Amino acid sequence: MNNNIIKYLTLIVALFLFSANAQAATNACLVCHKTLPQDKVECVTDCWLRSLHKQNDVTCDACHGGNADIAISNVKQLSPEAFAKDKALAMSPAKGFIGIPKGKMMFDVCGKCHNDSVNRYKNSIMGIAYIDNKGGPSCVDCHSAHYVIIPDVPKTCEKCHKDTTGFDQIDPMNVNDATVTELSRIRIKLAEEKVKGKEPPLFPKELGSFQIGFVAFGAIIVLFIIAYIIYILIEKRG
Ligand code: HEC
Ligand code: HEC
Ligand code: HEC
Ligand code: HEC
Ligand code: HEC
Repeated sequence: MNNNIIKYLTLIVALFLFSANAQAATNACLVCHKTLPQDKVECVTDCWLRSLHKQNDVTCDACHGGNADIAISNVKQLSPEAFAKDKALAMSPAKGFIGIPKGKMMFDVCGKCHNDSVNRYKNSIMGIAYIDNKGGPSCVDCHSAHYVIIPDVPKTCEKCHKDTTGFDQIDPMNVNDATVTELSRIRIKLAEEKVKGKEPPLFPKELGSFQIGFVAFGAIIVLFIIAYIIYILIEKRG
């Protein structure tokens, strides 16, 4: 075989591999959703792009399913038909697209990678209230779906709880009967400390023993000076 032909063949294979690789690196869900105005309002792609999940390659399809490997570009120039076709190919139930994970399905989705966290939460008072549809928070009510933050306690809890005293001292992922007992103990202790803090102290707190000694010493000096002046006055008269 001619040497040149081998060179060209290698080049073509290399180019093919390169383009296939470039395609695998682009996620069709992201490419299309980046252009959707409603996803800006809900902060879907923008939040995901800033998330720890993005850094760890946990892409849209890891949670929603579907086919992220279809070739798609220039979304804004697509005809409505082509757009609809790409959308149907990617968000295809036949390819495992589940839409928005709800109820127990959310535990299954997150549990693929965070099994320990799901087990910690699912039998807790709030986990049960979530599964039973009684207002308990879902994983993403606390963590957000796309930015996945570690939530601010107690700010996040205030959405549903009026009294959040002591919430920063318990495990929010595993609130059970023992936690409730522990929480009332913490609250009694905090209430006692508050009452103690209100009793008027003998001396203002800012005055340490050193300051008290200093003031007493000053008073004695002043008394001496006054006594000396009186003495002088008496001497002058006499
Ligand atoms: C060609 C554009 C396009 C592609 C590709 C695409 N989507 Fe969508 N997606 C949309 C549009 C538009 C909506 C708006 C709601 C609707 O029309 O259903 C949407 C809605 C959604 C929703 C909202 C809930 C629902 O079920 O409707 C989810 C979740 C979603 N897409 C995930 C994905 C995932 C995951 C992928 C990749 C596997 C993907 N999308 C690929 C255009 C696209
Ligand atoms: C860690 C899992 C996870 C990943 C990764 C993820 N999502 Fe979601 N997504 C969810 C969950 C859970 C909800 C439901 C939010 C809720 O109940 O408040 C959701 C909701 C949505 C919705 C509905 C709008 C909304 O905010 O309620 C769209 C659209 C969507 N996701 C698209 C995407 C796209 C596009 C990507 C990739 C850029 C993506 N998701 C990545 C879990 C995920
Ligand atoms: C495909 C695997 C995968 C799925 C599915 C997934 N995650 Fe993650 N998640 C990760 C990885 C990897 C990290 C980063 C490393 C780590 O902290 O464990 C992460 C990090 C996190 C963090 C941040 C932890 C920290 O220390 O800051 C939270 C919170 C989180 N995920 C919640 C969720 C929730 C809620 C769901 C379901 C809606 C979910 N994840 C689904 C893989 C996944
Ligand atoms: C009531 C709010 C709340 C709910 C609901 C919740 N979390 Fe958390 N989660 C937190 C807080 C606060 C932390 C950080 C403190 C800690 O680790 O205890 C955390 C920590 C995490 C972490 C970091 C690793 C770890 O275990 O510390 C992951 C991952 C996580 N949660 C995933 C989940 C998943 C998955 C669900 C649903 C099954 C869930 N969370 C439900 C509040 C919540
Ligand atoms: C979406 C609403 C919601 C959010 C957010 C939420 N909770 Fe709850 N919480 C509930 C519900 C519902 C119950 C169950 C009430 C019952 O069954 O008595 C509950 C019960 C509790 C209990 C046991 C009973 C009680 O009220 O003392 C504790 C403790 C608790 N949550 C702590 C937290 C903490 C800590 C956070 C924030 C990290 C938080 N919750 C966020 C809804 C929520």
